[in-house]
Amino acid sequence: MEFNAPAGENLFDRAKIVGKSTPRIDGPLKVSGRAPYAAERHDVAANQAYGWIVGAGIAKGRIRSMDLSEARRAPGVLAIVAATEHEPVGSSDYNFAPLFGGREVSHYHQAIAVVVAETFEQARAAAGLIRTSYANGEGAFDLKKAAPGAPLASDRPSDSAKIGDFDAAFAAAPVKLDERYTTPDEAHAMMEPFATIAAWDGPKLTVWTSNQMIEWSRQALGSILKMDADDIRVDSPYIGGGFGGKLFVRSDAVMAALGAKAAKRPVKIAMQRPLMFNNATHRHATMQRLRIGAERDGRIVAIGHENWSGNITGEAGENATLQTPKLYSGANRLIANHIAQLDLPEGNAMRAPGELPGHLALEVAMDELAEKLGMDPVELRIVNDAQGMVPGEPDTKLSDRNLTRCLREGAAMFGWSKREARPGQSRKGRWLTGMGVAAGYRAAPTMKSGARVRLTDRGQLVVATDMTDIGTGTYTILAQTAAETMGLPLDAVRVELGDSAFPVSAGSGGQWGAASSTAGVYAACVALRRMIGEKLGFDADAATFDGGRAMLGGESWSIRDAGALTAEDSMSFGAFKKDYDVGTYAGHFAEVKVDAYTGETHITRMLAVCDAGRILNPLSARSQVIGGMVMAAGAALTEDLHVDKRFGFFANHDLAGYEVPVHADIPHQECVFLDTLDPVSTPLKAKGVGELGICGPGAAVANAIYNATGIRVRDYPLTLDKYL
Ligand code: MOS
Repeated sequence: MEFNAPAGENLFDRAKIVGKSTPRIDGPLKVSGRAPYAAERHDVAANQAYGWIVGAGIAKGRIRSMDLSEARRAPGVLAIVAATEHEPVGSSDYNFAPLFGGREVSHYHQAIAVVVAETFEQARAAAGLIRTSYANGEGAFDLKKAAPGAPLASDRPSDSAKIGDFDAAFAAAPVKLDERYTTPDEAHAMMEPFATIAAWDGPKLTVWTSNQMIEWSRQALGSILKMDADDIRVDSPYIGGGFGGKLFVRSDAVMAALGAKAAKRPVKIAMQRPLMFNNATHRHATMQRLRIGAERDGRIVAIGHENWSGNITGEAGENATLQTPKLYSGANRLIANHIAQLDLPEGNAMRAPGELPGHLALEVAMDELAEKLGMDPVELRIVNDAQGMVPGEPDTKLSDRNLTRCLREGAAMFGWSKREARPGQSRKGRWLTGMGVAAGYRAAPTMKSGARVRLTDRGQLVVATDMTDIGTGTYTILAQTAAETMGLPLDAVRVELGDSAFPVSAGSGGQWGAASSTAGVYAACVALRRMIGEKLGFDADAATFDGGRAMLGGESWSIRDAGALTAEDSMSFGAFKKDYDVGTYAGHFAEVKVDAYTGETHITRMLAVCDAGRILNPLSARSQVIGGMVMAAGAALTEDLHVDKRFGFFANHDLAGYEVPVHADIPHQECVFLDTLDPVSTPLKAKGVGELGICGPGAAVANAIYNATGIRVRDYPLTLDKYL
């Protein structure tokens, strides 16, 4: 059922709490170590034992035998669940390879056993005593080899599109660009590992875990463990980063559940860091070809974006073409997304899946085209801004779109006019300096989201929803929304998250979390206002709620007089968004200096100007955007999972070998939000920013390096060896 909003409600347009920079209410708990992460929940179940996951030592093939005898005799060992003595625990709709493999190994470090012991050290030591012998099989590990035969994605027809006559228009265009770009496999590398404590109570299972999507987890565990999802409780109130890696149940939860059943004890598993990179998901590498044909005035007449990636299923690869139809106009188009079957670990969502590598290619191609045209790259983007239409979708209207403002205002703030257009001309001592720009686009989806709100007889409000806070600030924006809607001070509101006992929410993913879950809390609060109005005898939809009171026509009521009340409702978005394409937009700018002798790049400035509707909390939204900019800098400069193409695994599977940016790599970052409102996004007119921030900055860095050096590198990451 669609939420029935009060007529004429403009609560958030005169908001006092929503839209204000508000420090996270969970901040003190986090900085003082009192926000318990999954592996730290010592109090939730008595007598916790420790589990250690054993990962397969081959990428493809068969387990001949596992000798468990020595491990079983080792001190403290309570149980071992091993692939040779157990059915494989299969995949579900939510993951692509069995999380606990059987004798057939589908990827390197797939879980093949869990050892449960009294202590962590005993579990680890015993795992080292398991002797496994394998029959190695043949696997496909090389995207470059597999790409030429890779079929077009079949599961989503929108992944491939032909509009007009691309070939003819491209051939006839007076100015043409035809280039290829590659991006590597990347890891989420979140701080908190995958971690779960699992406990059985008869047929009922509870997992205290670290997961972005509580309801997806509950359903997936039901399907994976072949049990009724209603017998499963998932609880994940604090999460130390996810980036898409924790959208789905992983082997920590499955192996903890199986280990706990075997040991008849609650079992805790914090996945060892070196297992995370090959055991769990990653962002798949891409190969991309961009062809753009333009008139001499810069107007694009033909745009072609072809993408090749892979996955263990041969489906759902990394679709780098997503942003291309949304950013730029051009009558003749070719979009093609090819996916090869590869026997590497599962590729799956990582922050702005598709768009991160997509922008790294498209937004460099636009820079290259601007140079061929002798045009300023900011102006080229503005000339081709697909305002007012979604190419190829004549019946779809755009909601609020201000890409041109992002680029113009960003250029003014960044001092773009000081950029030397000719590359390699700007030098101070040993440092070559340069500036780069990129546009950014990310969709702003919303998902149905529910909440329960309870007014206590002391006038306090408790908000409960299975929504998660993955470090994003959810606790705070939900408290702000509830306080605003109920006319209560912020400190009268308590927010409880992440428990499947609470109403089902949108969860944290796809940058839909903030917009969806605040709308759900708003809906529940409107229901509560109506209950209060009914109880005290006034029309709640016409009243103003402020300072703990409701006011209407010169009368006023204390909402405490309504006594204890509980309301529950949810928001779904069909009616809001029908016929509309709702997106977020950004102008990204970067300045770099490159050592003329060593090729070493330092980013000296970054700026993002974002168009994302109402910003619910500028402080936490900024933190989302600059976090995205850091990850984009990593994608541009350092991050690279090295595929061992002989043995089919990521060789650099720890944080020493997988290089993410550190403080010394990142300058002060500016983030500016346009004062825009999106009337069709949600009742709060808000959109997400968590993924917008990573869409574009990497290309701005790449373009700045070109501007500094005059050397164009099209294979990421842009490490110094490629400039020598
Ligand atoms: Mo996001 S990649 O949907 O967490």
